[in-house]
Amino acid sequence: VGGNRLSVTPEQLARHNAPDDCWMCLKGTVYNVTPYMQYHPGGSDELMRGAGQDALDLFNEVHRWVNIESMLSKCLVGRMVGSPARSK
Ligand code: HEM
Repeated sequence: VGGNRLSVTPEQLARHNAPDDCWMCLKGTVYNVTPYMQYHPGGSDELMRGAGQDALDLFNEVHRWVNIESMLSKCLVGRMVGSPARSK
């Protein structure tokens, strides 16, 4: 994680929980998935289940093999600090 990346708190993460402003924590890294919302093959409703939370459990239930780091490299916001809510 580079020098100008944010340290994101659980409270900050939780505020970005709308389809037009959606952040997600995966493996301790926070992504702004808003630009990906309309392209997610599982649909925006499915993607929104992880909005503003740690979505890794949900993610792994569906597609453990999908390469998060490469797909979302341009959506990187920063590093998670603390323990966010986990999506179920
Ligand atoms: C499908 C990416 C988050 C639910 C897919 C596929 C990709 C993808 C590439 C197609 C997989 C394939 O056909 O082999 C991502 C990325 C995510 C993300 C990059 C993180 C930002 C989520 C979340 C859920 C979810 C949080 C919530 C449950 C699904 C479902 C499908 C799917 C249900 C299957 C669609 C179908 O085959 O009908 N996703 N996903 N995804 N995703 Fe995600």
